[in-house]
Amino acid sequence: MKVRKAVIPAAGLGTRMLPATKTVPKEMLPLVDKPVIQYIIEEAVAAGIEDILVVTNRAKSAMDDYFDYYPELEERLSRAGKERELSEVRRAADLANIFYVRQKETKGLGHAIWRAKRFVGDEPFAVLLGDDIMRSQVPVIGQLITAAERYHASCVGVQQVSTEAIAKYSSVKVQPLEERIFQVEDMVEKPRPEEIFSNYAILGRYVLTPHIFDILEHLAPGYAGEIQLTDGLKALCKQEKMVAVDFQARRYDTGNLKGFLEATIDFSLAHPETGAWLRDYIKEKAQTL
Ligand code: UTP
Repeated sequence: MKVRKAVIPAAGLGTRMLPATKTVPKEMLPLVDKPVIQYIIEEAVAAGIEDILVVTNRAKSAMDDYFDYYPELEERLSRAGKERELSEVRRAADLANIFYVRQKETKGLGHAIWRAKRFVGDEPFAVLLGDDIMRSQVPVIGQLITAAERYHASCVGVQQVSTEAIAKYSSVKVQPLEERIFQVEDMVEKPRPEEIFSNYAILGRYVLTPHIFDILEHLAPGYAGEIQLTDGLKALCKQEKMVAVDFQARRYDTGNLKGFLEATIDFSLAHPETGAWLRDYIKEKAQTL
């Protein structure tokens, strides 16, 4: 079982980040000096993924422009001797083989994944949500691929969250297999308190077998009237083996304002150009609060 392809669903409306996301896709908002989606593509590439499909919609063409060449700009940078900027602009366009498909109606995450059926074909594939950013030593999707390959199974990335927070995610019923790896027995999307299986929530990374497409194709709308990926995964884990990896990373949901600001601060502190300056600025600011 070799995972070579990844799907990045990025066709959501981004209503939690309005009004900024009315015309700028939330995946294109800058995290320090790169758009959010570039971090996700870099994570996939670092884990050995070669081909990436981004699921977009009619308001998101800035994404395919970003990963294209821009000869006039490159020529200008070259003439001005701006070698570092030139190589960064080029690097983004050469990161991976990136393909695009449109989700013509915003019918939910499960529906967006289903749009990847032809791209994926008959092999296991990775899914990385377009607004979930990870800071880790080992790429999170790589941690999942290792487990999926070892167990010949689908795999979901999980972390423990508080009992109050689990209502925003899917809660997973798990049995331990080894350190940080579990067998998945069941799951529920946005559970009410009496429905919670565990505090392990699925957080933005998956490795799936193509069997998921047969399930998604016939899935009825679930929570919020959308085709929910969790409902598809619930069916998949009953039909074939699925494991969960308690992945090692700090995860940021950049699709909401607080998550986006946390990521901005942490990534700026870690950035060679801004880190030392921001540390001093925060200290100075803290004295006046
Ligand atoms: P979210 O719920 O986080 O994204 O979906 P959203 O719908 O853009 O955000 P809000 O709630 O309106 O602020 C999780 C992931 O699924 C994708 C999103 O782009 C995000 O990566 N998604 C969601 C789709 O691609 N299509 C959809 O129909 C829904």
